[in-house]
Order: sequence, then C-alpha cells, then structure tokens
Amino acid sequence: MVLLALLCPLLALAATTDSWRARSVYQIITDRFARSDPADLTPCDPLKKEYCGGTWKGIHDHLDYIQGMGFSAIWISPIVENIPHNTSQGYAYHGYWTKDLYSLNSHFGSRDDLVSLQKALAKRDMYLMVDVVVNHVGSAQVAKDFTGEDITPFSKMSDYHPLCYIYNWSNQTQVEQCWVSEQTPDVDTESDFVINIYNNWIGDLVKNYSIDGLRIDTVKHVRQSFWPKFVQSSGVFAIGEVLADTTNYTCAYQNYMPSVFNYALYYRLQRAFLSPAGSISDLATMLKNNTRDCKDTLLLGNFIENADQPRYPANTSDPSQIANAFTYTLFADGIPFFYYGQEQNFTGASDPSNREPLWTSNYSTTSPSYIEIAKLNSFRNHIIAQSYDFVTSHMSLIYQDNNTLALFKDSLLFILTNLGQHGPQYTLALSKSGFPSGTQITEVDGCTQLTAGTNGALDVKMETGRPRILYPTNLLNGSGLCGHSNNTGNDTDRSAGIRLTPLDFWSFWQGSFFLVVLLFGI
Ligand SMILES: *[C@@H]1O[C@H](CO)[C@@H](O)[C@H](O)[C@H]1NC(C)=O
Ligand SMILES: *[C@@H]1O[C@H](CO)[C@@H](O)[C@H](O)[C@H]1NC(C)=O
Ligand SMILES: *[C@@H]1O[C@H](CO)[C@@H](O)[C@H](O)[C@H]1NC(C)=O
Ligand SMILES: *[C@@H]1O[C@H](CO)[C@@H](O)[C@H](O)[C@H]1NC(C)=O
Ligand SMILES: *[C@@H]1O[C@H](CO)[C@@H](O)[C@H](O)[C@H]1NC(C)=O
Ligand SMILES: *[C@@H]1O[C@H](CO)[C@@H](O)[C@H](O)[C@H]1NC(C)=O
Ligand SMILES: *[C@@H]1O[C@H](CO)[C@@H](O)[C@H](O)[C@H]1NC(C)=O
Ligand SMILES: *[C@@H]1O[C@H](CO)[C@@H](O)[C@H](O)[C@H]1NC(C)=O
Ligand SMILES: *[C@@H]1O[C@H](CO)[C@@H](O)[C@H](O)[C@H]1NC(C)=O
Ligand SMILES: *[C@@H]1O[C@H](CO)[C@@H](O)[C@H](O)[C@H]1NC(C)=O
Ligand SMILES: *[C@@H]1O[C@H](CO)[C@@H](O)[C@H](O)[C@H]1NC(C)=O
Ligand SMILES: *[C@@H]1O[C@H](CO)[C@@H](O)[C@H](O)[C@H]1NC(C)=O
Repeated sequence: MVLLALLCPLLALAATTDSWRARSVYQIITDRFARSDPADLTPCDPLKKEYCGGTWKGIHDHLDYIQGMGFSAIWISPIVENIPHNTSQGYAYHGYWTKDLYSLNSHFGSRDDLVSLQKALAKRDMYLMVDVVVNHVGSAQVAKDFTGEDITPFSKMSDYHPLCYIYNWSNQTQVEQCWVSEQTPDVDTESDFVINIYNNWIGDLVKNYSIDGLRIDTVKHVRQSFWPKFVQSSGVFAIGEVLADTTNYTCAYQNYMPSVFNYALYYRLQRAFLSPAGSISDLATMLKNNTRDCKDTLLLGNFIENADQPRYPANTSDPSQIANAFTYTLFADGIPFFYYGQEQNFTGASDPSNREPLWTSNYSTTSPSYIEIAKLNSFRNHIIAQSYDFVTSHMSLIYQDNNTLALFKDSLLFILTNLGQHGPQYTLALSKSGFPSGTQITEVDGCTQLTAGTNGALDVKMETGRPRILYPTNLLNGSGLCGHSNNTGNDTDRSAGIRLTPLDFWSFWQGSFFLVVLLFGI
C-alpha cells in the first residue's frame, strides 16, 4: 500500500517527460500571432520593436489553424509582466524583460484569457509550453542607474550580480555572472534567497496555469547546478536554450535538464539544404557527435527556425530545399519545433525582421508550406500511432554521399537531397535500407510502390530535389496518403502522446526526488 503510494508520483512524472517525445511544437511570439479582434488589420512594423497587439485570445481563436498542421503543442512567449518602457532596444513585446514575476503581461490579456487558452488546448489534447526567463529581468535605465526597486520580487541590488558585461564569451564565469546587455540586469542565481524564490515561483506558475512544459531562456548564462532543482520544482518537462555551435557544449546541459534545443544541428541543417548545394557531410558528421555527446538525442529540440535566427527562406527560396529541411526536422531523432510563419514562407532575416505579424498572411491554409507541414506532420502522427517505438528508437545512417543522406528510423526510411528543384532525375540504388527483404513499400511523396530486395535493397527515383519518404504499405491505412483512407472516428493519434513507456533516467531521477519529498512527508 505504502509502496503503491510511493510509486504513483513516480509514474505520473515519468509520463510528463516521456509524453513530450511524441509531440510536435509550434512556437508563437504571442504579440505577433493573432489579435483578439480579427478585423483589426492596423499595420505593425517589426523593425519598430513595438507591441503589435497579439493576445492569448487571438491564439485561442486560431487553434484549428495550428492543429490543422498536426501540431500537438504550442510554445508561447513569457507570460509575466514586463517593463512598460520604450528602451533603446524597443518595447518588451517579446516578454523577456520581467518586471513582476507574480503578475501577467496585460498586453496579452487577462488571467481568464490564459486559463481559457489552456483549457481549449487540453480539450484538443494539445500541450501548453510556456517560455520562462531566470537569468535576468528587464530595465529601461542606464545600467549603472539600475536600483531594482521597480522589480518584484528582486528589488534589492544584492539580488543581482554586480554590473559587468561579457567580453570574452569563452570565459564561462563571465557568461554566467555578467550582464547580457544593458536592458537585462543579471539575477544572482547563486543567492539562497533568489534560489528559493525561483523554485517556489516556478512550481506555482505551473500549477496556476496548468502548464505542461517549459522552454527556458538563456540557460547557458546560469550555472549548470542551478537547473536540476528548478526543473524538479516545476514538476514538468523543460527544454533549454543553449546557444552554441557544438553538441559538446550544448548537450552538457542535458545532464541538468531533460532537453535542450539542438543548435549544433540547426547550423548544419541551414548549411546542408541550400541552392547551390550546401554541405551534407557536416550534417552527417554532427549526428555522430550528437550520439557521443548527448544523454538522450530522442528528446532534443530540432528546428530550422526560431525567433532569434534569420528565417530559413531568407537564405533559400528553393521549395525543394525547404521540403528537405522540414522532413529532417519532423522525422529525425528528437522533438520537432516549428516557428510561426514557417507555414507562410515568411522571409524576415535577422531579429527583429523575423518577427512579422502573422495576420498579414490571412492565416491561409492553402499556402504551399502550410500544406507541406500539414501533410508531413500528420504523417508523423500516423506513424507514432502505428508504432510508438518510432519516438523511442534511434535512427541509423543508411547511406550518405555529397548530396544525399538516407536515414532509417523504426519502420521509416527518409532520404534527403540538396540538389535543388532543378536537380537531375536519377535512380539512387541503395544496397540496404533497413526494411526486411520482400517488404511492400510506398514512397509517400510521389506515391510510388516498391518492394525491398535482398538486404532490403531499393532503387529509389530521385527528382526535382524532393525528399523521399518510404514506409511499409500495409501501415498506411488511416494515413490519408496515396489513396489510403483517412482516420475517421478511430483516431488513435490522440492516445499516442500519453502512452507510458519505460522510465528513462531523467524521469527516474525526478521521481526519486518526489520519493524523498514523500518520505519526509511521512
Ligand atoms: C520606441 O523606440 C524605438 C527604438 O528606439 C523607436 O524606433 C520607436 O519609434 C519608439 N516607439 C515609440 C512609440 O516611441
Ligand atoms: C574570466 O573572467 C573573470 C571575470 O571577468 C576573470 O576574473 C577571470 O580571470 C577570467 N578567467 C580567465 C581564465 O580568463
Ligand atoms: C577567454 O577565456 C578563456 C577561458 O577562460 C581563456 O582561455 C582565454 O584566454 C580568454 N581570452 C581572452 C582574450 O582573454
Ligand atoms: C498563483 O496563484 C496564487 C493565487 O491566486 C497567487 O497568489 C500567486 O501569486 C500565483 N503565483 C504565480 C507564480 O503566478
Ligand atoms: C564534433 O566533434 C569533433 C571532434 O571532437 C569536433 O572537432 C567538432 O567541433 C564537433 N562538431 C560539433 C558540431 O559538435
Ligand atoms: C567536451 O567538453 C569538455 C568540457 O566542456 C571537454 O573536456 C572535452 O574534451 C570536450 N570533448 C570534445 C570531444 O570536444
Ligand atoms: C543565412 O542568411 C543570414 C543573413 O540573412 C546569414 O547571416 C547566414 O550566414 C546565412 N546562412 C547560410 C547557411 O547561408
Ligand atoms: C517562398 O517565397 C519565395 C519568394 O520569396 C518563392 O520563390 C518560393 O517559391 C516560396 N516557397 C514556398 C514553399 O512557398
Ligand atoms: C489578405 O486579405 C486581404 C484582404 O482580402 C488582401 O488584400 C491581401 O492580399 C491578403 N493577403 C494575402 C497574403 O493573401
Ligand atoms: C564530394 O566532395 C568532395 C569535396 O568537395 C570532392 O572531392 C568529391 O569528388 C565529391 N564526391 C563526389 C562523388 O562527387
Ligand atoms: C483525407 O483528408 C484530407 C484532408 O481532410 C483530404 O484532403 C483527403 O482527400 C482525404 N483522403 C482520403 C483518401 O479520403
Ligand atoms: C472503428 O473501429 C471499430 C473497431 O475496430 C470498428 O468497428 C468501426 O467500424 C470503426 N469505425 C470507423 C468509422 O472506421
């Protein structure tokens, strides 16, 4: 009986981290996604760094649009009250300049609006991921005049690191203890007072708004040992932003929180799928580093765009390259993240150009990229419903040359090419594929039928630079692809996200913490 009571929280938590593996996440800048009044088409120029008027209600009213692309989670901007001033860097429309940890950002709506959004998501079995910042707060003052008195609860200078700027980014002490910018007073995350406040705060925030997961900002600017207790206190999954070019640096943080964004991958994906052809081999090499350096590659956040980087179509207008990058993001090991506007082929380059209001697109569900994402992501959901092993098994490299990368994962083979839309038509002869010989296979991009030969050998037709996505034909029923029926009424996709799987180490560790708490309680 006691044992059962002890096991319960452990299992509940195991579901929390594991259930994110099967999700796909749509990143939203709350201020830029949708206004409460859809008739309000007042222009808003991202270069001015002002509030454009997007709200939680706006998101709530466009959930069909998001779910129509197969996404099963959204990540929204930080929700806490920010400094109201226009600074030399513009307004805090992005939410990263905290003023009061215990109040909401009224620009985005009321408490009821946020609660309604969460409830509407839950009804659709979609998750809510909220962005949080711990490293710094916001200030409109000249740095040396900052006193903290406007900030709740860190109102004393002793709650902050002394003013210094990071001038040597290889010096980790500076990265952690100096200020990222004049606008961002650096909280003293070594102070016991600060630590206690943050740990209590995050637990309350998650409970108050029924948050399913956290995206944590500027993780590398806080000492690693801060994070485990913070994440434990939240009780939910967390993925951290660790901006770095090598998996070695980034994945070190996966020892302190369940997941990090795969920034090293991002840079190589950007470079791999370009016209004229970029480097596939850098991408392939990096995958080995991932396996060597990361505790759990299946939880890493994969992305080709986010709010801090130039949009991908700013570098390539070739739709075939974009289709290959989408395919990698969705089917490779890890959790796929898309940034609002990718589905509308937005082309804004560096921040702030890449933070366009979405309403100028009229939320078209017929734009080529919307259709592409919807098709591929719905297919991913279908695959997971067929076999949850898809998100718990590692992909393997089947074939690689200067322009091609073939990866096999569970029962899916996907072949990426960077030859571009004007690339040649040819047959790629694979001597093995991962499929047992004799398997009937459908290539779902062009709907070609194939049969795997000896050792799974396959001859795959490549053309117009499109990716090739191959799956056993008998598993396609219900996918709606290539003449197979759609799932109607028997939607197994929905259960995919909450299936329990064996505990991974992180979950176990989280669980153990709660065991300790429970024992103390007893
Ligand atoms: C706010 O500041 C930005 C940059 O300093 C400037 O471009 C913008 O016009 C200002 N907005 C208002 C409303 O004052
Ligand atoms: C790193 O920066 C800190 C603070 O500026 C300084 O005290 C320390 O000497 C630096 N370490 C190295 C190895 O440069
Ligand atoms: C920057 O910091 C690194 C690591 O602390 C150190 O090795 C290097 O010498 C520093 N560079 C400069 C220019 O101070
Ligand atoms: C959570 O809600 C309680 C009760 O309304 C409130 O006192 C507390 O400040 C809230 N905490 C956070 C972090 O939102
Ligand atoms: C991969 O590992 C090699 C060897 O340690 C290293 O030189 C390279 O920078 C790493 N690349 C990435 C992207 O981590
Ligand atoms: C990874 O980083 C650690 C320290 O952060 C270093 O000791 C190790 O040599 C690095 N490994 C590689 C392969 O670069
Ligand atoms: C993409 O474009 C940005 C500027 O918009 C540039 O900084 C970056 O290097 C480009 N990336 C590649 C891979 O060409
Ligand atoms: C995206 O827009 C560019 C022009 O900026 C166009 O050439 C390209 O075909 C578009 N791609 C898609 C997938 O819509
Ligand atoms: C959105 O709709 C408006 C009004 O009908 C139209 O003027 C505009 O061209 C549309 N934008 C796009 C991207 O389709
Ligand atoms: C692949 O690229 C390398 C370096 O760019 C080149 O030397 C080699 O010939 C290429 N291989 C093929 C098969 O094109
Ligand atoms: C499946 O549904 C999609 C979208 O609702 C539709 O476009 C497609 O034609 C359907 N396919 C079949 C085989 O019914
Ligand atoms: C759903 O599945 C049940 C049991 O497998 C079956 O009897 C029923 O006909 C299915 N409904 C639809 C709409 O496919």
